[in-house]
Amino acid sequence: MAKQEAKVRKRAVVETAAPVSDASTEGPVPVGEPHPSQESRLAQYYGIVVVALVVFAILFYLGKRNEVQRLWFPEELSEYTGADDKPILIAILGTVFDVTKGADHYGPGGGYSHFAGRDASAAFVTGDFSPAGLTDDVSGLAPSQVAGVAQWRQFYVERYKQVGVLAGRYYDDRGEATAALRSVEAALEEAAHEDARRKEEEKQYPACNSRWSQAAGGEVWCDKGFPRQFFSGSEHLGTRCACVQAQDLDRPDLRQYASCEKYDNRCKTS
Ligand code: HEM
Repeated sequence: MAKQEAKVRKRAVVETAAPVSDASTEGPVPVGEPHPSQESRLAQYYGIVVVALVVFAILFYLGKRNEVQRLWFPEELSEYTGADDKPILIAILGTVFDVTKGADHYGPGGGYSHFAGRDASAAFVTGDFSPAGLTDDVSGLAPSQVAGVAQWRQFYVERYKQVGVLAGRYYDDRGEATAALRSVEAALEEAAHEDARRKEEEKQYPACNSRWSQAAGGEVWCDKGFPRQFFSGSEHLGTRCACVQAQDLDRPDLRQYASCEKYDNRCKTS
């Protein structure tokens, strides 16, 4: 009897020691619905995905911000002239560069100190370093001159560190390119076309030899072909001397030198 009682007690102990399942406390789980423990695992999983997405979005934003770099405003840029041991910054076509390592040129008293702390794009090709000449406005320049400014920008890209863009004429105050920058890009395309056309023309109408001295005046001559004044059709390129083959002599863009006969290959110009 005592043996049987002990058996019953042992079974009761075993039964109480057995793990108590959720199902046993909360009742049966309806078919097709996740088990409550599965539900919490799913919630954990979604949590991880959301955190990963947030981290990704932050990294993406930081990456983008790094791409755009810093946006400068004219008043703050004007403080970076190398005075007060601050770095020296210059802007060209709205791109800002740190030119501190060129302090000999751009620092106080340097030959090019007027470029420091501002965008004076036009002066890079006009050489006009007066207050009026130190302007970022290149809209009055010929396409080839705008290309000259862009070549300077390329010089800075290669030689110095770009540190941002300047809000104003070429970038708006969100750092987006403005219509003025698009006009610059259009002028650069035009300059490239002009350049290609000029190269083509030079092949067809090679340049004459020329010399000038006070005693003898000016003279042009051709080793092959006949010297003609050639108007390239471009305002600022004007006219030049071209060596023209006999079959092209009557073309309307050519003019015979007053001092020359039709088939002379040497002409006085003054
Ligand atoms: C439109 C006219 C000119 C402009 C805009 C101009 C601009 C510049 C600039 C920005 C620099 C500094 C380049 C750097 O960061 O390393 C420079 C350097 C220099 N420029 Fe000019 N320049 C002009 C005309 C001239 C002329 C006419 C001469 C000589 C007669 C000249 C001689 C020099 C010399 C010797 C250097 C120093 C080069 C070096 O040390 O690496 N520049 N120029």
